[in-house]
Amino acid sequence: MTLAARLRAGFAEAFGAAPAIESRAPGRVNLIGEHTDYNDGFAMPMAIGAETRVAFTPQAGAPLRVAALDFGEQDAFVPAEVVPSAAGGWRNYVRGVVDELNRAGVAVPGGTLAIAGSVARGTGLSSSASLEVALAHALLAGAGLQWRELDIALLAQRAECGFPGVRCGNLDQIASAATKAGHALLIDCRSLELRPIPLPADIAVMIVQSGVERGLVDGEYNTRRIECERAAAAMGVAALRDADEARLAAVQATLDATTWHRARHVIGENRRTLAAAEALAADDLITTGRLMRESHMSQAQDFGITVPHTDRLAALLNHAIGEEGGARQTGGGFGGAVVAVLRADRVEAVRAMVLADYRTPGGALPSIEVETPAAGAGLV
Ligand code: GLA
Repeated sequence: MTLAARLRAGFAEAFGAAPAIESRAPGRVNLIGEHTDYNDGFAMPMAIGAETRVAFTPQAGAPLRVAALDFGEQDAFVPAEVVPSAAGGWRNYVRGVVDELNRAGVAVPGGTLAIAGSVARGTGLSSSASLEVALAHALLAGAGLQWRELDIALLAQRAECGFPGVRCGNLDQIASAATKAGHALLIDCRSLELRPIPLPADIAVMIVQSGVERGLVDGEYNTRRIECERAAAAMGVAALRDADEARLAAVQATLDATTWHRARHVIGENRRTLAAAEALAADDLITTGRLMRESHMSQAQDFGITVPHTDRLAALLNHAIGEEGGARQTGGGFGGAVVAVLRADRVEAVRAMVLADYRTPGGALPSIEVETPAAGAGLV
């Protein structure tokens, strides 16, 4: 059964009718530019085939009844009076979006709403952003409103920082809301200038799951942010976006080693991301691959967010791919997926090498997806 069919069947079962509104928002894979977004820097994600879908029948003045089909759970609350749920989990992502819409002055209608998704959770592919963005589309449509993609993305980001309390940047939500089919998206996370980068036809993007689930690492994430802010302050710049290697060298003696390493990652990663966008647009997989390998090393050695399994998987993929293309851990870090860019005619050979040599921590074969850049979110 397709996700759309599963959603409609689940909505009908929960609420005994067909929905009036349907929306979708994709997960994303970040090709390069990691932990740069909250440093006002650059990132280059693309949307993937896995997505979250929302079905909604608005009813003004009614409570909002929400069925999370993937969990077999429900929630209900009055939109205008929404507060965080003590139960936590998916409920606060939903409630957080409603809260931000309230704050933006939207009269969020109640009614019946169902959610189903195919983005694997805890793998660095942004299941939460796709939920927030799909939900915002459906609720705005229910209120009779149409917002710009970027405004939806920024609302979704605020929603994640709100009730769930993750101090994320804007990469995931912009990627889910504003990517174009067939394109990666170079994001200037400060100016919010977006540049779609067409992916040449004979390039494949492969996502391999390490099988290491990101655990409770929000604390680590927030620590990285604080370290980056400390480094920027030491250099007297608003954000690490404004620093370069020379400036970092000038303050090295005053910084503790960890802070220096964090800053070096972000400064280098911004440069790599801009260079990778040029290289990819020019169909130069040799340069793109080198930059991806450097990005992985920098995440491992300077930013401290890789784990032995993703290090192994990235090394294996890079060996299998050779010169034309490369691989790196993608997303927030501490496990999750490794992304590879390679020539399409190399996919089967590389897949075979990974299946022959890599096992997840539980001893299983890794799951491998080959992605074509999907379209950003919208109503269905
Ligand atoms: C998570 C966050 C993003 C971004 C990435 C790392 O996905 O939600 O904002 O910081 O990590 O690049």
